[in-house]
Amino acid sequence: MARKSKADKTPGDTGGPQHVAIIMDGNGRWAQQRGKPRLFGHHAGAKRVHEVVDSCRDLDVKYITIFAFSTENWKRTQTEVAGLMSLFRRYIRKEMQALHDRNVQVRFIGDRMALDAKLVGLMDELENYTKDNDGVNLTIALNYGGRDEVARATKRMARDVATGKLDPESVNEQTLTGYLDTRFLPDPDLVIRTSGEARISNFLLWQSAYAEYEFIDTLWPDFTPAIFAEVLARFGGRDRRFGAVDTAAE
Ligand code: IPE
Ligand code: IPE
Ligand code: MG
Repeated sequence: MARKSKADKTPGDTGGPQHVAIIMDGNGRWAQQRGKPRLFGHHAGAKRVHEVVDSCRDLDVKYITIFAFSTENWKRTQTEVAGLMSLFRRYIRKEMQALHDRNVQVRFIGDRMALDAKLVGLMDELENYTKDNDGVNLTIALNYGGRDEVARATKRMARDVATGKLDPESVNEQTLTGYLDTRFLPDPDLVIRTSGEARISNFLLWQSAYAEYEFIDTLWPDFTPAIFAEVLARFGGRDRRFGAVDTAAE
């Protein structure tokens, strides 16, 4: 199949990414720059999610996955962790109806065991309330770590081997993929990290094997749909080879 020229590819046509994952970083620095506490930045960051998810429909992004809290973020102060947990509860209560009205299907990935029961109850409720929606798929990574996810998946797999449900000789990449929290998702095509840090911090390790990465300097509370569209346009110009040779370039 002939490769489209860079100029032909714009987000919105089939050259755009189907699944975009975002490491929403820089809330703390954004607040610091304003002489405010870190939680002020987290609140500003949460406000950005709404319009970015909304813009997915126009930008033809079917799946969006956002990193809200990592398995390593428990190392922060008790004040910040408690503030974030309370923000998540408030966010779900406030956004539930609006997400449903916009036909968004919401799911969570990450380990729910360490989260408080009230928050888990709200997460279940939001998933359940939006489960029949067929618009944009929003996945929220909350108490998520890529290594933790693979470890939990392996534990479930080992249990199935022990009970005779799974033949160890049959295990391949697809088998493990099917035990991950993300089993209902295609792999991300593009991972964006805001705030200028060029690392992945344990996000979607297995799933991002062939993802394209965009590290941008903007702090998350300053991230707008216009910036999102610019990043997607750059993606359209990339040449993804998946280990093969690009025959059109020969
Ligand atoms: C990202 O912003 C949000 C979370 C990790 C919860 P940070 O809180 O990491 O902001 P910086 O990196 O300190 O600026
Ligand atoms: C990654 O950001 C986690 C989230 C955005 C939720 P961090 O700010 O926690 O990552 P590090 O500590 O800079 O690697
Ligand atoms: Mg950070």
